Amino acid sequence: MANRLGWLGLMFVCVACGAKDQGSDVRAADPKVEAILAIAADEAYGEYLSSECSTCHNPASVDTGFPTIDGQDPAYLIQALLEYRDEVRENETMRSIAGALNDEEIAALAAYFSNQ
Ligand code: HEC
Repeated sequence: MANRLGWLGLMFVCVACGAKDQGSDVRAADPKVEAILAIAADEAYGEYLSSECSTCHNPASVDTGFPTIDGQDPAYLIQALLEYRDEVRENETMRSIAGALNDEEIAALAAYFSNQ
């Protein structure tokens, strides 16, 4: 998995150059977001899963050109990942990554990153 993501990272570096927030406003009342917020998230599992994210998403203090997801609102993180998984958001890298995540993994990742 790490190798595949590394390869994706190289492939999509230029896509990432101009990448910034492009999602819609957080719809806290979105039933799909609410359903994942309601999952008893396993933050330790989120930390484990986050190793595949940190190649690109680094702490807020490090400007890598990738959007910072540390300390983001959990509903925002969940909605963003669902929008990639549902192919609402365009980015192919994140579509591929989010497409491989189930609801429990999204809940765990949102719990972990929102607490960083
Ligand atoms: C290969 C690099 C890469 C990896 C690995 C990666 N991301 Fe991303 N991520 C991006 C890029 C580039 C964007 C911006 C895409 C866009 O413009 O929509 C992004 C956007 C996001 C966003 C939306 C941020 C915002 O401000 O709207 C979230 C949430 C996110 N990623 C979560 C994750 C999670 C969780 C993982 C690990 C499971 C992960 N990413 C792994 C490159 C990556």
